[in-house]
Amino acid sequence: MNNHLLALKDFSKQQLQSLIVRAIMLKNEAADDILHNRLAGKTACLLFEKPSTRTRVSFEAAMYGMGGQVIFMPARDSQLGRGEPLKDTSRVLARYVDCIVVRTFGQNVVTELAEHSEVPVINALTDLYHPCQILSDLMTVIERKGAPENLKVVWLGDGNNMANTWIEAASIFGFPLTLACPEGYDPDNAILDEARKRSDQPITLIRDPAEAINDADVVNVDVWASMGQEEEQKERINIFRPYQLNKELLAQADKDAIVLHCLPAHREEEITEEVLEGPQCVAFDQAENKMHIHKAILESFINGAVEL
Ligand code: CP
Ligand code: NVA
Repeated sequence: MNNHLLALKDFSKQQLQSLIVRAIMLKNEAADDILHNRLAGKTACLLFEKPSTRTRVSFEAAMYGMGGQVIFMPARDSQLGRGEPLKDTSRVLARYVDCIVVRTFGQNVVTELAEHSEVPVINALTDLYHPCQILSDLMTVIERKGAPENLKVVWLGDGNNMANTWIEAASIFGFPLTLACPEGYDPDNAILDEARKRSDQPITLIRDPAEAINDADVVNVDVWASMGQEEEQKERINIFRPYQLNKELLAQADKDAIVLHCLPAHREEEITEEVLEGPQCVAFDQAENKMHIHKAILESFINGAVEL
């Protein structure tokens, strides 16, 4: 039993698959107006230190949708901003709520909160990982293309939190992953090394986006400057320009390839308007699936619906 969701690598393929299967079931049931009250009487605190549209609202909608309640706590409005230790914050919040969902900068913050929390801590994005997002992305891949094991998955652009989490997902689920990142913007080395040791499929890091996308089944892009890197935005635009996913580059993927973007998107930077709004792009399904996977996550970690 794992009490916290801090990184995908802490879970087995079977555990993560169970969460996705449960999310698909909840999505189908919601479409048939079958509602659940399984989190009635439960409260989640969303402690967010970075902006969010999708993650915040989908966690809140998921919690309310299961009969629970949410307290949104911007970190800057809490005593954390005035130096209260994480271990005190964590112990206090755990006396009030049944789950703490955290969006922050350092992975060490979620780790420390979890160390001292009597209730589950869920990582809703750090500089290192975005595990809940990759679960909704995998759910979207499975809905569209079936089991990911034999799909060629490609990452284009920055070796950021999303790239790191895709690397872990590839090693756990066992699908081939090719990343094309400009020099100096590689994913985390330790994560890459560890994943390669665990994986029976290749996890390849190259520079050339055209070589990477060749025959791809799933193409992933994300912003070139993540939250916290705003001052690098201009410099990054010049460096990352060859990695833009446009019609010409996408034509080199498999003709039935799907395009994933966790959003928010910067049109005409990492992706053109034409591709984002085109028939191969599933970004808005990914966004919807966040709510369904968050229901499965909350239900499992708070109530133990899925054996973790
Ligand atoms: N994809 C995602 O995490 O979006 P938000 O930053 O809007 O939560
Ligand atoms: N890499 C992006 C993901 C946003 C959901 C960021 O961290 O800003």
